[in-house]
Amino acid sequence: MVSLGVNIDHVATVRQARRAVEPDPVAAAVLAELGGADGITVHLREDRRHIQDRDVHVLRETVRTHLNLEMAATAEMVAIALQVKPDYVTLVPEKRTEVTTEGGLDVVVGLSSIGQAVERLQAAGIPVSLFIDPNPEQLKAAAQAEAKFIELHTGRYADAPNEVERAKELAYLAGATEQALALGLRVNAGHGLTYWNVSPVARLAGIEELNIGHSIIARAVLVGLERAVREMKQVIRL
Ligand code: PXP
Repeated sequence: MVSLGVNIDHVATVRQARRAVEPDPVAAAVLAELGGADGITVHLREDRRHIQDRDVHVLRETVRTHLNLEMAATAEMVAIALQVKPDYVTLVPEKRTEVTTEGGLDVVVGLSSIGQAVERLQAAGIPVSLFIDPNPEQLKAAAQAEAKFIELHTGRYADAPNEVERAKELAYLAGATEQALALGLRVNAGHGLTYWNVSPVARLAGIEELNIGHSIIARAVLVGLERAVREMKQVIRL
């Protein structure tokens, strides 16, 4: 069965709205794990708009499942990851003006710098995942970069305007998963997944983990985080 990585960035977003100490993403991680999360994901952005360095350090000590650190492939972030040693790192593109991660990494164009970041992290025993669109050229480049995992960007699937387009995007995700496995890459997926659209993706053979943030935290505001995570686990199991 596909596992669930819960992205808790939005808990830190609420805290940072007041530059306060609560709600604490560390407490959120505990509740997410009690609800059945298989992993905890945080994105330490260059502008520190939500998750702070302190959160990553404390989560490293408290997370009982696995900690997935999302970050840009910059020298600063690689140095932090080498110090913190998360269970794995997901490299993502980052623009200061974006509301959330918009597209996948361009591994074709950035092969040399991304490859170097992958090499440094994996030499230190930290497996690396590359967040990419379900595109054959990006998949080949991810294999050339020698990443252990890819995370398929499901944003186009999630944003599809109608069922025909959604089916087309799902087929791209299925094809990309097959291609990735043939290239020796392990496969995760995420972005824009909700209680209503996740099932077809959760049923794609070969995907190991789904990373979901916004939809779970949005429900958690109303019903509590433990229950929101438990309900997402139920949906992806169906
Ligand atoms: N995967 C990656 C690489 C992301 O950057 C994000 C958003 O931070 C997610 C998954 C989760 O996306 P969402 O919040 O839309 O569930």
